[in-house]
Amino acid sequence: MKEGTPMDFRQTSEQQMIADTVRQFAKNEIRPVASQMDREGEFPRSIVKKLAELGLMAAFIPPEYGGSGMDMVSYVIALEEIASAWASLSVIMTVNNSLVCEPIYRFGNGAQRKSYLPRLASGELLGCYALTEPESGSDAGALKTTAVKKGDRYLLNGTKLFITNGNEAGLAVVYALTAPEKGKKGISAFIVEKTFPGFFIGKLEDKLGLRSSDTAELLFQDCEVPAENVLGTENEGFKIALSTLDGGRIGIASQALGIARACLEEARAYARTRKQFNQTLSSFEAIQWMLADMKVDYDAARWMTLKAARKKEKGLPVTLDAAMAKMLASEMANRTAYKAMQVFGGYGYTKEAAVERLYRDARITTLYEGTSEIQRLVIARELLKS
Ligand code: CAA
Repeated sequence: MKEGTPMDFRQTSEQQMIADTVRQFAKNEIRPVASQMDREGEFPRSIVKKLAELGLMAAFIPPEYGGSGMDMVSYVIALEEIASAWASLSVIMTVNNSLVCEPIYRFGNGAQRKSYLPRLASGELLGCYALTEPESGSDAGALKTTAVKKGDRYLLNGTKLFITNGNEAGLAVVYALTAPEKGKKGISAFIVEKTFPGFFIGKLEDKLGLRSSDTAELLFQDCEVPAENVLGTENEGFKIALSTLDGGRIGIASQALGIARACLEEARAYARTRKQFNQTLSSFEAIQWMLADMKVDYDAARWMTLKAARKKEKGLPVTLDAAMAKMLASEMANRTAYKAMQVFGGYGYTKEAAVERLYRDARITTLYEGTSEIQRLVIARELLKS
């Protein structure tokens, strides 16, 4: 294997150090409070602030804009560690990093980068990504929110749905039609501050899992956005949205890895101590095979996710790799959570067992940032391209 290629999976000493630091942080600051806070649906504001102090809220943004300048592999390793402790926290982190900081860094001009990235990095501002609408989910290009230019500002009108961080965020990257007659070729991206007149929070979702991550409806009613807050080129917003999701999907794959690893660790520990028929569960082949399958499945998804991260780090196209990693890792996390609960038996179905929360949290990973069906569509389209 050639050194430095996407298939070179050796970790650098810096990547190892980041993994150790984040694991220690998760052990001391996250694990002791995660179950209780998640049960109460409490948004982890003070922990998000600490994540920012650790440099994880703008992990791969260069230091000149307040970020940590991490490589993409370090970022996914850190995200997996956070997710293994608390999936709710990991989605808050990945949305801020991949869906907000990244497009502002990649497509923003100097003034936008300087104005927003340091605040997103320090935790002063939390970001959200507002694409989905009541009638456009998988068919993201069918969105209806409009942005009409009036003098030196745009007036935004429409509703965004299922927006992660929506209630807590101080800033949203919002996609809206600037040329409705052109359909998805007439979408633009806007950086919209929560304080802009006409920006309202609608209903908050009551979800199966990720109970401490907030998911909100955003309402724009003649919302006034200064013209200088267009992100990138007017009418190129759909491409910004989709290429942003390429990076986001690597993040969700990492989140799924973290959930799966936690399931495997829980099941392994339980199997070694729980006795039935005068033997530990781990002495039964049926249980051994489940653990073996979980490990193989996890490692395969991890390699694919790291490969996608390495390609992204090198600036190579990642649409295909990101969709494959997201599809495999999210489906793997669901299989793994199922098996972990099977190892626990009835205990796993109670709130006392960590696998109960992991099982619920795994479920979203095949749904958001594109369902598994959308990932298969993207993969097939990439395969069949001439
Ligand atoms: N990067 C850049 N450009 C891209 C692209 C990519 N990955 N994929 C496509 N494009 C370009 C195409 O080349 C095309 O350009 P031209 O018009 O110049 O030819 C343009 O974008 C439109 O592409 P398509 O015609 O292929 O678009 P489509 O309407 O068929 O949709 C889709 C493609 C893959 C189905 C897309 O709509 C999609 O990904 N849907 C899922 C939406 C989604 O993932 N939503 C997640 C919401 S956010 C979220 O979940 C966050 C959270 O809560 C954590």
